[in-house]
Amino acid sequence: MERTLIIVKPDGVQRGLIGEVIARLERRGLKVVGLKMMQISRELAEQHYGVHRERPFFASLVEYITSAPVVVGVLEGPKAIEVTRATVGATNPVDAAPGTIRGDFGLTIGRNLIHASDGAESAEHEINLFFRPEELISYERAV
Ligand code: CMP
Repeated sequence: MERTLIIVKPDGVQRGLIGEVIARLERRGLKVVGLKMMQISRELAEQHYGVHRERPFFASLVEYITSAPVVVGVLEGPKAIEVTRATVGATNPVDAAPGTIRGDFGLTIGRNLIHASDGAESAEHEINLFFRPEELISYERAV
């Protein structure tokens, strides 16, 4: 069983798509084991997006993700990282297939609705950044 981190970004929250985004991932069969709304601090955003520090869009990325509330969640399931990314779609919504979250709701790379961890290492790092162990809850889910 694998765990991954998702963030419904400010555009997803402001457009009233929190439920839609999470529902699609839940319907896929992923189990929500952690969930909270928060406003991300600059320090946390810089840690979360640290791998992009040298990119030209880093400052605007941090500026944006800290600009308004987000909803952060941890999803669990077989191949949760890969399954979540497939359900979310390509990073640039212009390239995302119809039927994916980004392919159905977005057109702008900086406003692509949701972040999802891109590998096992980043998933572990990101989950630990956003959640304390006691905030993650194991339970049985009917399929
Ligand atoms: P995310 O999955 O949150 O991971 C890094 C984010 O950087 C990505 O989604 C995009 O929203 C953003 N991003 C990636 N490339 C660009 C770019 N060329 N210009 C602006 N933002 C970008």
